[in-house]
Amino acid sequence: MPNIVVVGAQWGDEGKGKVIDMLTEKTDIVVRFQGGNNAGHTVVVGGQEFIMHLIPSGILHPGKYCVIGNGVVVDPAGLLEEIEGLRKRGIQVTPANLGVSDQAHLIFPYHRTLDKLKEAKVGPGKIGTTGRGIGPCYTDKAARVGIRLADLLDREVFRKKLQLNIEEKNILFTRVYQAPALNFEEIFESYSRYAEQLAPHTVNAPLVLNRAVKEGKSILFEGAQGTWLDIDHGTYPYVTSSNATAGGACVGTGVGPSLIDQVIGVVKAYTTRVGEGPFPTEFPPALMEQIRTKGKEFGATTHRPRRCGWFDAVLVRHSIILNGINEIAVTKLDVLDDCPTVKICTTYRLAGKALETPPANIDRWSQVEPIYEEHPGWLADTSQAGSFEELPPQAQKYLKRLEELLGVRISIVSVGSKREQAFHV
Ligand code: GDP
Ligand code: IMO
Ligand code: MG
Repeated sequence: MPNIVVVGAQWGDEGKGKVIDMLTEKTDIVVRFQGGNNAGHTVVVGGQEFIMHLIPSGILHPGKYCVIGNGVVVDPAGLLEEIEGLRKRGIQVTPANLGVSDQAHLIFPYHRTLDKLKEAKVGPGKIGTTGRGIGPCYTDKAARVGIRLADLLDREVFRKKLQLNIEEKNILFTRVYQAPALNFEEIFESYSRYAEQLAPHTVNAPLVLNRAVKEGKSILFEGAQGTWLDIDHGTYPYVTSSNATAGGACVGTGVGPSLIDQVIGVVKAYTTRVGEGPFPTEFPPALMEQIRTKGKEFGATTHRPRRCGWFDAVLVRHSIILNGINEIAVTKLDVLDDCPTVKICTTYRLAGKALETPPANIDRWSQVEPIYEEHPGWLADTSQAGSFEELPPQAQKYLKRLEELLGVRISIVSVGSKREQAFHV
């Protein structure tokens, strides 16, 4: 099996977890390369739903090795809770099947608090973050004051770094936000306990991964969030703080680009977004309600209702360029089963002019008018289809039209949340 990067090509929650679970069967290693526990990746196996936040979705397959790469920001309490939660459900997570990069940056309670304080301070112009401390942690990483797993494992180094951080944060907390100061000892002690529990999982991830490739093993790179939440390419500032595009897979793992064979972009048969920011194809209220209910469109991490809209081919066409996507996986086709008409946005118009790509300026983004083409719906149940040929003719036509507009092959179609409800094309 080739080394494959799987990315979301919309605004996250495309069904990456399910696609990763499908592809894990034929791979040896699954690695997360960016983001943190802002992600919620759902896999439904044997009637049981598992939602992964930090641990790669491949963990449900016995015998596969999973890695949390250096590009991920790790909340130790969140990670340990996730490991424990899986163990309780009979999924063993041990150093034999989960490694964490010693270079991964750690999320501290002050990151979470700062995330929420910042959002509250800006009020209506807020990003709508998950409140997990992701932005503030990546901010510290870029400011070169972050604390990495390797630092945590050295008690004296950790003490010094934490002291410096807390001194600085306390000025911010008390003087800017009028919030209570942080207690050094409390954080130091609780994180020292996490250190003991995480030590056995700690690995030199670039070494482990590159050695595995040399031995002929294959790697699946599990993207979190989506292309339009990417810090560089997304709907900035309404983005997350990491590179969710395929390039992030190299930076976030220490595996070079020449070792990557393929990039699969995951899309929903429509579009969703959680949080604030432009969304040209957003549904009017009645349709929003219908699709949200049928598609169970509520956040896997924060349980917030997701905003829903028609498939936006302008957006995904550009995602294909940004990621070098060579295959597409379409999920949630079944959610459109009851629609008498399905629409696809093929172009944006702004001030009377057609736009081929989304504008960089966020205000212009919010003003674009989506131009749609309409197709008759299939008004039939697709959830039992086991192959492309078993789909109703209008559903086949819809997918063929998407392929035509995107210029990339659809290689996977998903028609339900269960592991069995998907097929290769
Ligand atoms: P991710 O973050 O990209 O892994 O996606 P999420 O897990 O946040 O959201 C996808 C949701 O859709 C989950 O609840 C999945 O169980 C569900 N899902 C995935 N594929 C399908 C599908 O083909 N049809 C339906 N109805 N649900 C799906
Ligand atoms: P998965 O991996 C959908 C969104 C938040 C917010 C913005 C910034 O499950 O697809 P953050 O907490 O990252 O600073 O929030 O990004 N967001 C996601 N939306 N799916 C996700 O992950 C997301 N992770 C973050 O809603 O708009
Ligand atoms: Mg999700």
